[in-house]
Amino acid sequence: MVRQSSNTQWHHATVTRIRREQQNGHHSAIIWFTGLSGAGKSTLAHAVEERLHLRGCRTFVLDGDNVRHGLCGDLGFSDQDRQENIRRVAEVAKLMLEAGTLTLTAFISPFRVERNLARKLVPHGDFIEIYCDCDLATCEQRDVKGLYKKARQGAIKHFTGISSPYEPPENPELIVNTASNSLNVSVDSVLALLQDRGIINNV
Ligand code: ADX
Repeated sequence: MVRQSSNTQWHHATVTRIRREQQNGHHSAIIWFTGLSGAGKSTLAHAVEERLHLRGCRTFVLDGDNVRHGLCGDLGFSDQDRQENIRRVAEVAKLMLEAGTLTLTAFISPFRVERNLARKLVPHGDFIEIYCDCDLATCEQRDVKGLYKKARQGAIKHFTGISSPYEPPENPELIVNTASNSLNVSVDSVLALLQDRGIINNV
């Protein structure tokens, strides 16, 4: 992105990220869920958020379907639009990192390049990539939103896994097999990772 707003200056906040984190009693981080449509990204992100909230953590979920109702409502599903979708979301997640929040994002985010750009926007260790690994056949069988059926019929173009590619992460912080794991097991593995990394406290 070429920045067009040249005559602007950064204003430094006196209430810093560190002060916010101290007040919250945990670190902030971006917990980035990626995977096919129907792999369970949103379900897992919200279930993790629920557990974190019950522990008193400050959280927020940025969800693909929701963000496309507003901030990214002008974007479709061409490669270019998906890149812009992820760029905007990564910038929002970066702001929320400064706000001291544990931000969980649930986007297909099919391309490695954009996910890595999102990672590089923030300090090392603040971006936790979690691959919701669920094979296409299982996602298609679930077809919670009926979109795979439409994609197979040709009614939806550029559908991830059918007519648009998905590039699995090469080196994610965590792989969760959402085809075979129960939701509880998956949630536990995410919370264990956040504890291991010192982002949240052990309870
Ligand atoms: S991303 O590729 O740009 O990261 P995003 O996560 O925001 O995608 O949106 C994916 C959601 O949009 C899917 O879960 C599905 O409900 C819906 N959707 C509509 N059309 C498509 C499509 N062509 N490919 C994938 N998902 C689609």
